[in-house]
Amino acid sequence: MQIVREPARMREVVQAARAAGRRVGFVPTMGALHAGHASLAAEAARSCDDIAVSIFVNPMQFAPHEDFNRYPRSFDADCALLDRQGATWVFAPAVEAMYPPDNATRIVVGGPALLFEGAMRPGHFDGVATVVHRLFQAVPADVAFFGAKDWQQTVVVRRMVSDLSLPIEIAVCPTVREPDGLAMSSRNAYLSPPDRSRAVALSAGLERGAELWSAGAAPHEIEAAVRDALGARGIDCDYAAVVDPESLDDLAVRDWAGPAIVLVAGRLGTTRLIDNAFLPRRPPGQLPRPTDQLPRPTA
Ligand code: PAF
Repeated sequence: MQIVREPARMREVVQAARAAGRRVGFVPTMGALHAGHASLAAEAARSCDDIAVSIFVNPMQFAPHEDFNRYPRSFDADCALLDRQGATWVFAPAVEAMYPPDNATRIVVGGPALLFEGAMRPGHFDGVATVVHRLFQAVPADVAFFGAKDWQQTVVVRRMVSDLSLPIEIAVCPTVREPDGLAMSSRNAYLSPPDRSRAVALSAGLERGAELWSAGAAPHEIEAAVRDALGARGIDCDYAAVVDPESLDDLAVRDWAGPAIVLVAGRLGTTRLIDNAFLPRRPPGQLPRPTDQLPRPTA
């Protein structure tokens, strides 16, 4: 496994591999790698000949009051994990290599990027889109792998790729969870032991929401159940919303059959966690079911 620091060099080696007929997969990350990232690399290894993984904590996607400085960094352990996963290259540029001092160009994203995380963290998705675009320039792979845990990010990236006709496929891989259901995230490292045990309310709330969805509940009932699950563990809910998985718009009454996705964000002290659950299409005859006929929560 080779560590590459310079974008121009990275581009050269990827182009050479592709010119030799090799399929190249790319996993963009901010490091502090966990089993979720390992599963993206494993998925890349299944379908590609060579794998590039970037490790770059992107200052542009953090607001000044956010956690850029304390974001966990564990470069040596990350490289060891990627070596075990069979990565070909680790692309680890310096901030100045990605953003030269005189750079003046940004990607500004609209539509679904302005909702939910975009509304809570203004400018966040402009920073994500800008860096992902620059990473795609440095790593001109066949396919890039993103985790479904950051569902809105996958929507924003896929929209950018389509709007700008970028020549790369986007693969979205399932969320990897801890045994108790908590979605893996580098930010879980911030949680104190009591907060870590409360954090399971996000996935538990989503499970309850999915159960209600299958039983025919209306979107607002599912949103209320997710909010209640967080509230019961003292977690401040930034949003809980059942939306169209592609546009992220509210489900229109005619779309109540789905498919849909329920997005949630909660705050435990200074740590913000996000998660989501996919809600599969349900038989139209089932809808909507009166609230008093919905199953009661299990204790
Ligand atoms: O999901 C992440 O880790 C980051 O947002 C990404 C896609 C690597 C861009 O910095």
